[in-house]
Amino acid sequence: MQVAIGSDHGGFRLKTEIIAYLKERGIDYKDYGTYSTDPVDYPDFARAVAEAVAGGKFERGILCCGTGIGVSIAANKVANIRAALCHDTFSARMAGEHNMANIITMGERVIGFGLARDIVDAWLNAKFAGGRHAQRLEKIAVIEKDIAAVNICR
Ligand code: RB5
Repeated sequence: MQVAIGSDHGGFRLKTEIIAYLKERGIDYKDYGTYSTDPVDYPDFARAVAEAVAGGKFERGILCCGTGIGVSIAANKVANIRAALCHDTFSARMAGEHNMANIITMGERVIGFGLARDIVDAWLNAKFAGGRHAQRLEKIAVIEKDIAAVNICR
């Protein structure tokens, strides 16, 4: 398991805490920045992590910002990314079991570090349930393809 991780300034402290947890668990990761609390634009970091995951360099990605919302919106613009905003362990487990989320996002201004660790665990330990859920993911992939085709035709 290799994890790509990134944040903007609003999620920098949460990212640092999650990296410490990944180290504790012996999980390989690459930190795509940002590397301080100096203001930056979250789409830049969301894109870097999302492209690393979509391109197959990493199986999973974790993104943090102030709310988790901005990085989630941006990451989901990258084809084959299923980024789930998770602020509770049930959603994190479901993101893995039902949605096969390859990225989770969290907000430093929303949750504490302890809960964030439990969320990462719940998501990493979840096994995709397949079956009807796979069929639904295929439909999402079709939406992505149809939209890409429309954009080419414009
Ligand atoms: C930055 O102030 C903040 O807007 C950002 O971290 C994030 O919450 C956006 O969704």
